[in-house]
Amino acid sequence: MTASIISGTEIARQIREELKQEIIELKAKHNLVPGLATVLVGEDPASQSYVGAKEKTSIELGIYSERIDRPEKTTQEELMALVDRLNKDPKIHGILVQLPLPKHLDETEVLYAINPKKDVDGFHPVNVGKLMIGEPDYLPCTPHGIQQLLIRSGVQIEGAEVVVVGRSNIVGKPIANILLQKRPGANATVTVCHTGTRDISFHTKRADILIVAAGRPKAVTADMVKEGVVVIDVGVNRVGKTAEGKAILVGDVDFEGVKEKASAITPVPGGVGPMTITMLMLNTVRAAKLAAGLA
Ligand code: GUN
Repeated sequence: MTASIISGTEIARQIREELKQEIIELKAKHNLVPGLATVLVGEDPASQSYVGAKEKTSIELGIYSERIDRPEKTTQEELMALVDRLNKDPKIHGILVQLPLPKHLDETEVLYAINPKKDVDGFHPVNVGKLMIGEPDYLPCTPHGIQQLLIRSGVQIEGAEVVVVGRSNIVGKPIANILLQKRPGANATVTVCHTGTRDISFHTKRADILIVAAGRPKAVTADMVKEGVVVIDVGVNRVGKTAEGKAILVGDVDFEGVKEKASAITPVPGGVGPMTITMLMLNTVRAAKLAAGLA
């Protein structure tokens, strides 16, 4: 079997078209323009590229975008004051502080300070807790994007054996939580593997849907999966540069080997990445609607 390719680029494009229409209607009917603030501290090239893409996409969709770049030496007090200002700004419905923050800053304190109603990342403990009990306001962007990739590709999630490799707060834990909810597009049996798992292959071989967010290339190879599995590769590993100086990206899955056994697989790039940004836009529109009493 050679896998069909699940194109995040194409599915993200569809969702962005839907959002663009919704944003036009919000402006026309309610004079409401969703606003997103993106905060970048320091000069990490990967973070700069992610924040740049978030800003560009918001502008394309008609979202009011405020990009705030602060130097590496920014203090905790300065960053907390910035979050406070954005919490109070009525034009801003969503606040995104790009992670990781420089080492001297307390990431937890910053994330806790963001008003949960403006927490379009879904990282505030209030939103994490709401997801846990099945009453989310915002789903975190990458896991929500993964769920949409599966739903919009026609993958049967209900009753499926889902195996997640990785237990991060950004991907592994929330995707497990989302897919075990008792609702359409979820209701799966979910297993989470991590660095403490004794025999990862034992679990990955049982997966109907395998979601890999391990953070290293070739963490999953063909011998670790069963025929017909659907594979979602969340990895973004920079393994070198092209002659033109562009980063060469690979996922966490040995794509060439695994695609011969899988029924469907996401590529890197062009799989989960475009979905993450798109779901951030969706959350920003939702934040604006919640603030205006329209959701
Ligand atoms: N760093 C890597 N992924 C993310 C994300 O989804 N949100 C934020 N704020 N930072 C990140």
